[in-house]
Amino acid sequence: MRNFEIELQNLGKKIEKALDNYLPKADEYPPKIHEAMRYSTFNGGKRIRPILTIKAAELFDLPGEKVIPTACGIEMIHTYSLIHDDLPIMDNDDFRRGKPTCHKVYGDAIALLAGDALLTHAFRTIAKNAQIEGISLQAVIEVIDKVSLAAGSLGMIGGQTIDILSQGTPIDEKTLFYMHNHKTGCLIQASLWAGARLAEAPVSDLNKLDELGEKIGLIFQIVDDILDVYGDEKKLGKPVGSDKRNKKNTFPNIFGYENSIRLVKTLSEEAKEIVSDFKNSGFFMQLIDFLIERQY
Ligand code: IPE
Ligand code: IPE
Ligand code: MG
Ligand code: MG
Ligand code: MG
Repeated sequence: MRNFEIELQNLGKKIEKALDNYLPKADEYPPKIHEAMRYSTFNGGKRIRPILTIKAAELFDLPGEKVIPTACGIEMIHTYSLIHDDLPIMDNDDFRRGKPTCHKVYGDAIALLAGDALLTHAFRTIAKNAQIEGISLQAVIEVIDKVSLAAGSLGMIGGQTIDILSQGTPIDEKTLFYMHNHKTGCLIQASLWAGARLAEAPVSDLNKLDELGEKIGLIFQIVDDILDVYGDEKKLGKPVGSDKRNKKNTFPNIFGYENSIRLVKTLSEEAKEIVSDFKNSGFFMQLIDFLIERQY
C-alpha cells in the first residue's frame, strides 16, 4: 500500500477511536437510540471530512489532535445526513457502508431519531474543542457558526431540498451546480475551514480553503454520481442505480459521462493550483487524485 493510503487508514482509525469516546455508550439509557447512532457511525466510512479538518489544521502548524472534537462533530453531521438520505421518504436505499441501512435494522422512526441525535450531539462535541489547550474560544464560536450554516437550509439541507424537489424534473445547469455545491460542497468546505480556523489561519488563507472546498465538493459529488451508474456495489458499500430509480438530476445524466469526467479533471487541476499556494501541500495533492480515482 502507498504511504498515502496508510496515512488515510491511520487517520481513519484515530477518528474512529475518538468517535467511540465522544458518542454516548451503547448501553446508555435508552440503549436503542445509542445502538442505532453507533451502528451507522462505525465501519465502512472513508472519514474524508474529519481527515480534511485534521490536515487543514496541520497545514497551519497546529497538531491534528487539537481539532479532533470538531473533526468528530463534522463526521456525526455527515453520518446523520446519510441516515436521513437513505430513508424510504428520501432516497429509499437499503445498504450503506456495506451494511443494511439504519432504518432497515432499527425501523424508520428510530433511524429518524438517530439522525436527529447525531446532529445535536455533533455540536456538543464541537463545543468540547474549547477545552483543548491553545484553542481560542473565538475560533470555536466561529467554527460552530460556519458548521451550522453549512449543515442547515442555507447549506446542505438547501441542496438536499433541491435534490428531492427536482426528482423527475430536469433542472438547468445553474440549479445543478447549486444542488451539488450545497448538498455536498458546503460541509466539505466547512471541514477544511474549521481545521484552519482553529489553527488561527489568516483570513486570506481561509478564503482560499473555501475555494478549495468548493472544488473538492463538486469533484466528490460528480464522482459519487458517476459511481452510482458505473461503480461496483461491493466496493461502494451502497447500491448502484439508486439515482436512476429515483429519477435524480445528476452530472452524468445531464452532461453525459465524458463531459462529467472532463469537468472532474478540470476541477482537480484548479484544486491543485489552489493547494500549491500552501507549504507542505503533498497530502492534499494526493487526496485530490484519490478523490477522482476512488471506487468506494
Ligand atoms: C456519501 O459520502 C454521500 C455524499 C455526500 C456523496 P461519502 O462517500 O463520504 O460516504 P462515507 O462517509 O465514506 O460512507
Ligand atoms: C447525498 O447525496 C448528499 C447528502 C447530503 C447525504 P446522495 O444521495 O447522492 O448520496 P449517496 O449516493 O446516497 O451516498
Ligand atoms: Mg440523496
Ligand atoms: Mg442517497
Ligand atoms: Mg449518490
